[in-house]
Amino acid sequence: MSIRVMTIFGTRPEAIKMAPLVRELERRAEFESLCCVTAQHRQMLDSVLDIFHIAPDYDLNIMEPRQTLSTITSKCLLGMEDVLDRARPDLVLVHGDTSTTFAGALAAFYYQIPVGHVEAGLRTWDRYSPFPEEMNRRLVGDIAQLHFCPTASNRSNLAREGITEGVFVTGNTVIDALRTTVRKDYRFTTESLNDLDFAGRKIILVTCHRRENYGEPMTHIMTALRRLADDFAEVELVYPVHLSPVVQEAAKTYLGGHPRIHLIAPLDVVEMHNLMARCCFVMTDSGGLQEEAPALGKPVLVLRRETERPEAVSAGTARLAGTEEEAVYRLAAQLLQDEGAYAAMAHAVNPYGDGRACARIADAIAWQWGQRETAPEEFMA
Ligand code: UD1
Ligand code: UDP
Repeated sequence: MSIRVMTIFGTRPEAIKMAPLVRELERRAEFESLCCVTAQHRQMLDSVLDIFHIAPDYDLNIMEPRQTLSTITSKCLLGMEDVLDRARPDLVLVHGDTSTTFAGALAAFYYQIPVGHVEAGLRTWDRYSPFPEEMNRRLVGDIAQLHFCPTASNRSNLAREGITEGVFVTGNTVIDALRTTVRKDYRFTTESLNDLDFAGRKIILVTCHRRENYGEPMTHIMTALRRLADDFAEVELVYPVHLSPVVQEAAKTYLGGHPRIHLIAPLDVVEMHNLMARCCFVMTDSGGLQEEAPALGKPVLVLRRETERPEAVSAGTARLAGTEEEAVYRLAAQLLQDEGAYAAMAHAVNPYGDGRACARIADAIAWQWGQRETAPEEFMA
């Protein structure tokens, strides 16, 4: 009998990281794959579904403008009731740390359906940062029976909370996705990106959207970015701006109208990965970009006070820049001026995966259900 596995996701990064897993489940005879999207994000989710040709079986379509944490969680939870009632999967898979992740896991728990947590064990140990993600992933850690950790250090984090059963170190599925998107001869469909002079100019790829950066930290970060564009004539900033109205307003206010700051619409993931592969370096508060950029040999300045992804910092390809204007400016200026400092950070490392995370996750599930004799080999960086 095939194992009925329901993947639940709702935002852009979850979709990018779950898409290769959905594909893997669909491909294998041991599984019946069911896909439920909450659509906590609408346009940014649909873009990923299109690229990976995924047609969800269920779509809760919950997104509303300026949604609050409570509305997302309650709409997901209520919507999932009907879906789980009808579908009755053997296992639910959720990803990461969003409100969809938490509500999806909780909904499955109410139906006493086992939960597998993909991208398990990331921690900052600060309950308010990132907010609300740190609490979401801790709570899902308690609910889940299967924990798919990207790295060995993620497993150690779970052990510190007493979670030692059903834990697998698999690598991060985002590296699986990256293997399918980046091409040397890629031509952008966004024409303005083809006009960028990647050889002659220093193209900095920027993203910034986190809730805990709303307000003062975001103002500091964006002021530093504008100063960089003012002071370094060879620099062009490319910033695909998240659709959150809070972020849109801040970006227009602090970065708008500058000839070398390109505020553009969110890019589809293929465009984004190929832009990252060609840029000079990345400045971001995003989780996913911290994992992708090192794999592509691009230095990352992390626009946050802490990170749950210390592996790239240890490997020397990422640095925690914080959210103070002067510190952000100084670290970026150093990368622009000091070739040695740049070279020290610009080497490709893969602390987050080897492109086989989805196969390991599928193998681990099959093993748990008695359809495979051995557990998968662990990912080792
Ligand atoms: C959410 C996640 C965050 C993740 C981020 C990825 C939570 C609490 N936060 O934050 O962990 O890092 O997604 O991007 O789960 N919007 C659109 N169209 C879209 C997407 C968003 O218009 O396709 C607008 C809507 O007005 C929405 C707002 O953006 O209300 C914020 O979206 P929301 O999912 O609440 O928060 P994010 O900041 O995206
Ligand atoms: N991304 C994208 N288009 C964009 C910006 C980001 O496809 O315009 C991708 C990025 O490459 C990464 C993921 O979206 O795979 C990260 O999502 P986001 O920064 O929204 O969320 P986080 O990772 O911080 O949760």
